[in-house]
Amino acid sequence: MRVGRRDVMKASALLAASAWAPVAIARDTRDHGVRIRDLLSRMTLSEKIGQMNQIAGGRQKALNSRLDAAMLDRVRRGEMGSFLHVAGAEPLRRLQKIAVEESRLGIPLLFAMDVIHGYRTTLPVPLALAAGWDPAMMERAAALMAEEAWAAGLHWTFTPMVDVARDPRWGRVVEGAGEDAYLGSRMAEAQVRGLEGPVRRAREPLARGRVLSCSKHFVGYGAVAGGRDYDSADVSERTLHEVYLPPFHAAMRAGSGSFMTAFNDVAGVPMTANEALVRGKLRERWGYQGLVVSDWNAIPELISHGVAATPAEAAALALHAGVDMDMASSTYADHLATAVAADASLVPLIDQAVMRILMTKARLGLFDDPYRFGDAAREKAPLARGTARELATRSIVLLRNEGAVLPLKPTARIALIGALADDASSELGSWRARGQAEDAVTLRRALPQAVYDPGTDPAAAARVAANADVVLLVIGEDYDMTGEARSRSDIGLPGDQQALTEAVRGAGKPIVAIVMGGRPLALEHALTGIPAVLQTWFLGIEGGPAIADVLMGKVSPAGRLPIAMPRTTGQVPMTYAHVPTGRPANPDLAVDSARYHDTDIGPVFAFGHGLSYTRFGYAPLTIEPRGDATVIGVVVSNDGAVAGDEVVQLYIRDPVASVARPVAELRGFKRVTLAPGERRTVRFTLAHAQLALWKAGAWMIEAGTIEVMVGSSSADIRQRGRFTVGAGQGSDPAASIATRVEVA
Ligand code: NOJ
Repeated sequence: MRVGRRDVMKASALLAASAWAPVAIARDTRDHGVRIRDLLSRMTLSEKIGQMNQIAGGRQKALNSRLDAAMLDRVRRGEMGSFLHVAGAEPLRRLQKIAVEESRLGIPLLFAMDVIHGYRTTLPVPLALAAGWDPAMMERAAALMAEEAWAAGLHWTFTPMVDVARDPRWGRVVEGAGEDAYLGSRMAEAQVRGLEGPVRRAREPLARGRVLSCSKHFVGYGAVAGGRDYDSADVSERTLHEVYLPPFHAAMRAGSGSFMTAFNDVAGVPMTANEALVRGKLRERWGYQGLVVSDWNAIPELISHGVAATPAEAAALALHAGVDMDMASSTYADHLATAVAADASLVPLIDQAVMRILMTKARLGLFDDPYRFGDAAREKAPLARGTARELATRSIVLLRNEGAVLPLKPTARIALIGALADDASSELGSWRARGQAEDAVTLRRALPQAVYDPGTDPAAAARVAANADVVLLVIGEDYDMTGEARSRSDIGLPGDQQALTEAVRGAGKPIVAIVMGGRPLALEHALTGIPAVLQTWFLGIEGGPAIADVLMGKVSPAGRLPIAMPRTTGQVPMTYAHVPTGRPANPDLAVDSARYHDTDIGPVFAFGHGLSYTRFGYAPLTIEPRGDATVIGVVVSNDGAVAGDEVVQLYIRDPVASVARPVAELRGFKRVTLAPGERRTVRFTLAHAQLALWKAGAWMIEAGTIEVMVGSSSADIRQRGRFTVGAGQGSDPAASIATRVEVA
């Protein structure tokens, strides 16, 4: 680091005025502490604010495009801590060199990008990967994208999105793991492990090929009113703690090095200014030591929320809340000094924020070697097609298969109908980083033996259907219908696809509906009379071959819905884990009960639902106490003729408690592969802290009976049992705690 004597004196004079208060340093990072404190003591206020500034170095579709001469001069002046929307081993090496060699203190920059489900190799969208119900598979996906992003010189990706979502009108459902806090927690930690590797010890830098994760959007973003993106979330304290916070806790425990605050307010307090939840809950109560970044432009948007009158006020509010870095708005850069002039008590908060940013850079190893990310040769490596295909195949969910329409007979004459069957761009999904549509193999290309019709003219499509033995009807959403700012008031079949479906149905041939999209659609009506249905999401570059593998029976499907498919839009938000009411939903419309009069009760396909080409049997449960835990065992057998995976699911219920408890809560699952005739014992060790409920600011385990339900989905419980538990207290969010699962 090149620091002139005069500069040091100037900086220490400034610092003396700024009343630097030592901050607590995480135990595992204390070795960096001395170095960072020394560096901090030499920084001017403007250099500190510079570290808190993250600027777009390009646009999502034109990376690096804003790195002009003026921007590079700002780097030289120490006005930047981080860039987003930048990439490329060589350009980022050059940019880093300017920061390290030409700025006064030589502090390396942090390079960030949204790598959500693949950098060059586009993998299934996160909701699809979650449908694999297999954290190891999620971890592999995250590790692959980390490696490709790392090769391109990136340090940091804004993944995972761990927002629980129970309202599929919200377009960002596609980016998360669905409706459940327990499944979401397992997927959150799997993604963090894949991106960052195992939790690291002191001074151990991030390994080659790993990048910093960012758990987002803290918190309640999935609960926005009406499923409208960016809207308010008005959730109860209990729901916040039991449903929305657990995946963040799981991500933190897995070592997630950064968090992003959400755009929304929770009960009127915007998360970017939410001192109680960010500084209070996340930092003080949970002890989180990582970096907190705002979402894009969210600091000045505090003015639109109506909680700040000026940008300086907005900056002060965000800083008080615990937001260390300002994404994209320059509000810290342009207004924090004004805020400090008005209120000197902000100075120690600035020091804490800068300390965390520098500590993050240290923990990435950037002070030891600022060029340790990026590998121009690896950047040109071929796409990981094998992994992409395997992950895509494992993400497919067989929703219905009446009369064993699937797998298809090898000699069947196949009609393939629908524009999505040949829409390479949609296969990539809504976030694509450097993914290219020309890399994607569509279903049409993967099934050259099928007669294809795009379905633009229903009558023509019906004629093609009439000449086939079986019809593959590809319907759903295109890539641009889900994602950020893509909320929809009607999640039925979009466009003219209903007319197409009816025309094809009129041909009288067996139909397999292949449903693509980034959210569960409300398709009860559309799917009536269709014997086979596959949910195929957006599966990435190997989507077509993966679907073909399942259709032809090369692989038995085993994905499960991570979020229920409603019958109609009017049913949402919904969840299997609802609390019972005084008048539970009753099929008899003459009974006044908690249901709609104009639609059946519950979803058309339940949370956890997914079929296979084989059948599985469940023997009665064994339930044994073991200290502060209960061990629930079940023997599962493959009773069919082909190999397949079963996802064994464990649900609990507290039938009588001081507050109404959900009718079922997922507390364990395991995807197991069984050969025909094979049987395996799956043992879940459920810690009693996993039964705790949030009450009066604490995790309480109430004494009494707990019911356990084990089965193939939340609506297909095969075995039940119960045990009793004594009173106690937990410390972590119950759903964030992982159940130990052994398979013998
Ligand atoms: C806004 C989104 O909410 C967030 O998820 C994303 O990481 C940032 N934009 C950066 O692109």
